[in-house]
Amino acid sequence: MKSYTVSELLSQNIAPNTEVEIKGWVRTFRANRFIALNDGSTLSNIQCVVDFENFDEALLKRITTGAAVHIKGDLVESQGKGQTVEIQATFVDVLGDSDPETYPIQPKKHSFEFLRENAHLRTRTNTFSAVMRLRSALSFAIHKYFNENGFYYMHAPIITGSDAEGAGEMFKVTSLDSKNPPLNDAGEVDYTKDFFGKETNLTVSGQLEAETYAMSLGKVYTFGPTFRAENSNTSRHLAEFWMIEPEVAFMDLPGNMDLAEDFMKSVIQYVLENNKEDLEFLDKRLQDEDKKKPQAERSPMTLIEKLKFVTDNNFKRVSYTEAIDILRNSKPNKKKKFKYIIDEWGADLQSEHERYLVEKHFNCPVILFDYPANIKAFYMRLNDDGKTVRAMDILFPGIGEIVGGAQREERLDVLKQKMAAIDIPEEDLWWYLDLRKFGTAVHSGFGLGFERLVMFATGMTNIRDVIPFPRTPQNAEF
Ligand code: 4AD
Ligand code: MG
Repeated sequence: MKSYTVSELLSQNIAPNTEVEIKGWVRTFRANRFIALNDGSTLSNIQCVVDFENFDEALLKRITTGAAVHIKGDLVESQGKGQTVEIQATFVDVLGDSDPETYPIQPKKHSFEFLRENAHLRTRTNTFSAVMRLRSALSFAIHKYFNENGFYYMHAPIITGSDAEGAGEMFKVTSLDSKNPPLNDAGEVDYTKDFFGKETNLTVSGQLEAETYAMSLGKVYTFGPTFRAENSNTSRHLAEFWMIEPEVAFMDLPGNMDLAEDFMKSVIQYVLENNKEDLEFLDKRLQDEDKKKPQAERSPMTLIEKLKFVTDNNFKRVSYTEAIDILRNSKPNKKKKFKYIIDEWGADLQSEHERYLVEKHFNCPVILFDYPANIKAFYMRLNDDGKTVRAMDILFPGIGEIVGGAQREERLDVLKQKMAAIDIPEEDLWWYLDLRKFGTAVHSGFGLGFERLVMFATGMTNIRDVIPFPRTPQNAEF
């Protein structure tokens, strides 16, 4: 007798009356007869029909929601509605009981807040299993895209001595005794006595290290965890998130935009083709949610329509300067509806502005480029105007910023000046400067926030619901 997954049983056109074997978790047990069994391989359950006359009553009592069971039987055409095949069970064993009084995941709707508190069990629900299967598919699609396009996968270090973004939002890594650290003559903590002999942190970005590999291997990307100790308790920020960072030698900013757009379309296309069932489920869930809202707040497009819109339409490319003009003359700005009023060129864009541009003005993904130098990181290439840099941010509807990237400053003298202006000591980044001393060249890259992509692809509106165990201020459970 062969062992199958639910996905195999439902998709493989197995001959009627084949003897099959399956293991999974009980979703429901109805009328002492029908087990809806799920094993995570697919959204669907397989129905297992138990003739209670033939089974011990004590055993039947143990078939409860959440229990792990082992079932053998014949795969037959289903008599009932809702499924094509079902298993006529001849053998049932309860591998792991689940007390129905205390099992948190009852067969009813639970709030996402409740499920966050039970994140260790939430993938036993349809919504979270669908989201996490999509998360897995998207990561595969990302590796596939880069692999098929001649990129090498590079593992950037997680413990680092440099602050790539210069924003000072790093988590310290130390093995010193926090109660009694060694002090130097000035009375400060003496990090020369620490594990690495210097101050180290968890990385905020693998970009600087990726640049070193781009300048030798040509086309590379990183895909790893990054950490930011920013105290922003929003639905779009995590303290630990995953970032994809391609970096390419001899590529300028327009090339960077082309790459980012092609890449994002390709991974979204992948899930549209390969994850239909989960997407259709999430799409329907969102439509049901939408129906509860007042007409004006309802989404004009369904989830799948939104995904197709991205794959089928060009991203709008707009300079920062044009964007500021649009915002300055916008209704919410004139009526002082924005929290931060845009009155001058040079203002940093807040998420309310980004969302206005994407959701109200352009109604499509937008690539903003050529930002003022002083609101962007030190490594971005200075334009000839002396005040803007070759930065690009990609803004998505419902998400806001999903990608941040740039053409890098490849000129040694300009880079040194920029570092000096914000007090980054040259000796801290001597190796980064070396790239500009030996065979420097135009190069570019970007960072895609993986969880923000998963949010977009699943329609989930809180970033805590698209990563297995979210790390946010005051929360590192599990
Ligand atoms: O714009 P950011 O800060 O860019 C960089 O880190 C560059 N070094 C990337 C590069 O050029 N190689 O971050 C990139 C993306 C953002 O656009 C956003 O999608 C995501 O990372 N991101 C976060 N996602 C979740 N939680 C946070 N706290 C995030 N901070 C940034
Ligand atoms: Mg950014």
